[in-house]
Amino acid sequence: MPQRRSKRVAAGNNKGGVGKTGWVECIAAALAEEGLKVLVVDVDPQANLSRRMGRPYRKESPLVTTAEVIKSGEVGVAADAIVPCGWGGIYSQRIDIIPSRFDLENRISEAAVIGSRGRLARALQGVDDEYDFTLFDCQPSLGHLTQLALAAADYAVALVEPEYDGVEGAVRFRDFVESEINRAEMGNPGLVFAAAIPSMVDGRLAGHAHHLSTLPDIFGEDRVWDPIPRRSVVKDAADEAIPLAELGSRANEMREVFRVAARRMIKELV
Ligand SMILES: Nc1ncnc2c1ncn2[C@@H]1O[C@H](COP(=O)(O)OP(=O)(O)OP(=O)(O)O)[C@@H](O)[C@H]1O
Ligand SMILES: [Mg+2]
Repeated sequence: MPQRRSKRVAAGNNKGGVGKTGWVECIAAALAEEGLKVLVVDVDPQANLSRRMGRPYRKESPLVTTAEVIKSGEVGVAADAIVPCGWGGIYSQRIDIIPSRFDLENRISEAAVIGSRGRLARALQGVDDEYDFTLFDCQPSLGHLTQLALAAADYAVALVEPEYDGVEGAVRFRDFVESEINRAEMGNPGLVFAAAIPSMVDGRLAGHAHHLSTLPDIFGEDRVWDPIPRRSVVKDAADEAIPLAELGSRANEMREVFRVAARRMIKELV
């Protein structure tokens, strides 16, 4: 059996709108710029990642999505859903995506079916061996869809907006991942909570500075990665469904932030 090279990383938080999808799209771009091959898997029925990376679902030209992959759950079936991301250039050469669509919502009702939690892991078996990273963009929930991603992942990272509810949601995600019972039930006892990544950080807000200062105590100093600032350029790139690089020099600061973050990820997630 070939050894899987790909490190699988699930990005989550029990709170919505904290920058999970923003992180996945920008870190995927930064990893690609470092020459790595990345598979991103949209595990959110909102399908924000799919649209932002140029693979929106359209009825007239339907794609195979995570909804069909998970419905089947057969070993290796995820290969049928992989398409290059829609950004063009090196990004389309190095970043593939398994897109999502709203129908993924219907998979939640299958949570009680025996073996259903392992469907994404089985579907990916043998499929992402040749990638450097596989990134799962989770919905703001600890429910079935997030558990499908966690059952398949090697690492979980929490995006933490440094506000009360953002920190609490990240703690719930961390505690869920670190529960031995949960990991055993997901069939993934080796899953590791790797990092709390401060996100959407606004340096002008005293509240953000305060919550940032609490994170090392809550998550452990080594597990708090460098903050991702809140900058309109990230939102603009997301809204226009383009990579940061296409926004020219005004994206330089954030490209550097994600370059540093990508290098840390490459070094630490082995
Ligand atoms: N670093 C950032 N700076 C500024 N805006 C950002 C940043 N990261 C994300 N955003 C924007 O903030 C909004 C919410 O971010 P995003 O969609 O990434 O959050 P999310 O946690 O994935 O949300 P959900 O829980 O709904 O999936 C989006 O409009 C996004 O483009
Ligand atoms: Mg999202």
